Amino acid sequence: MSKLRTIEDLGNLSGKKVLLRADLNVPVHEGRITDLTRVQSIKKTVLHLLKAGADVILLSHFERPGGKVVPKMSLAPLAPCLEDELDVPVKFVGDALDAKTAEAIAEGEGVFLVENLRFHPGEEKNLTSFAKKLAALGDLYINDAFSSAHRAHASIEGITHHLPSAAGFALVEEIEALETALENPERPVAAVIGGAKISTKIATLENLVSKMDHLFLGGAMANTFLAARGENIGASVSEPGLIEVAKRIMAKAEQAGCWIHLPAEVTVAKQMDVTVGAIALPLRAIEDDDMIFDIGPRAADNYIRVLKRCKTVIWNGPLEAFEIKPFDHGTTQVARAVGNLTKRGKMVSIAGGGDTVAALYNAAAKWKFSHVSTAGGAFLEWLEGKTQPGIKALMS
Ligand code: 3PG
Repeated sequence: MSKLRTIEDLGNLSGKKVLLRADLNVPVHEGRITDLTRVQSIKKTVLHLLKAGADVILLSHFERPGGKVVPKMSLAPLAPCLEDELDVPVKFVGDALDAKTAEAIAEGEGVFLVENLRFHPGEEKNLTSFAKKLAALGDLYINDAFSSAHRAHASIEGITHHLPSAAGFALVEEIEALETALENPERPVAAVIGGAKISTKIATLENLVSKMDHLFLGGAMANTFLAARGENIGASVSEPGLIEVAKRIMAKAEQAGCWIHLPAEVTVAKQMDVTVGAIALPLRAIEDDDMIFDIGPRAADNYIRVLKRCKTVIWNGPLEAFEIKPFDHGTTQVARAVGNLTKRGKMVSIAGGGDTVAALYNAAAKWKFSHVSTAGGAFLEWLEGKTQPGIKALMS
């Protein structure tokens, strides 16, 4: 059986220059990182390496400069933030292919930060020549960036062919948490899937119905499922072109013994405007110009009643338009219940995806979940059942 190589497999670290792939693609406002989760996630690996006598060379991308130098996408301003968070000095050494960078790394010690790798087209094209040049900057390679593991890029996949490579602590932790929830869950296992479009989640839903006992749907995506069941959704946002897909997913779920839950009561308004006032209604009372913006409080209670019997819960996507009050009610109510059940040791809960994490913050439930992934796209691909190139490269 294949196994993920870990830091222990790299042997003696003393005196080694270790290239550490982080995901520093973090939200930044006026030079400050506004969500530190991805930086904090690498701290354990960085401190372990330093303690073992290694030097650490941080490699990352930042946003999408498209293979050319875009000064506002430089990683340089992140060095002081990294210093604060990691509590060690961090030297920004410049571009990966600059001779001075190699020199500074070879002659210095401690933690180094290399410029945004996506300034080079070779990074996203996974060019062997670029991967080899990166590899030449160090002796060993560790990937601690689950959130980028779905990209077959030079610093994620290519480089592993040229250096002894392993997964860092954060990557191992993410994979163990996701495997617990998806491959080997304590049952009943449920997934709460929200978001605007089925089109972005077809593969996820198809994979989940064969693995979950319950699937709770929310977000505008649920409207398409309601329409596929023949319910009136008024003027709500939906994807009429995907009604047949929704029917196919529901049929597959029935065959697999997965119960799809949709709200029987919803919160509607005539437009998405807090001043207009929202009202909770059973589906049959929806008027033609009503738009669904949230699952109703009774629907949330019904979701919670079933969730209370579940031992494992996976969450991706807000249940509705949580960023606008009062339409955050359903997501908040269900997120708090899952968080509290987790805190009381009744279930294991795993969440991931950009909007999901924001919704959990909004519900003050983030810290109560068993594991909140640092990943957006990579989390979704995991739920689709794909093996990510960055993970495959670290298996032996
Ligand atoms: C992310 O934020 O999901 C990762 O950093 C990957 O970024 P990308 O979608 O630009 O590859």
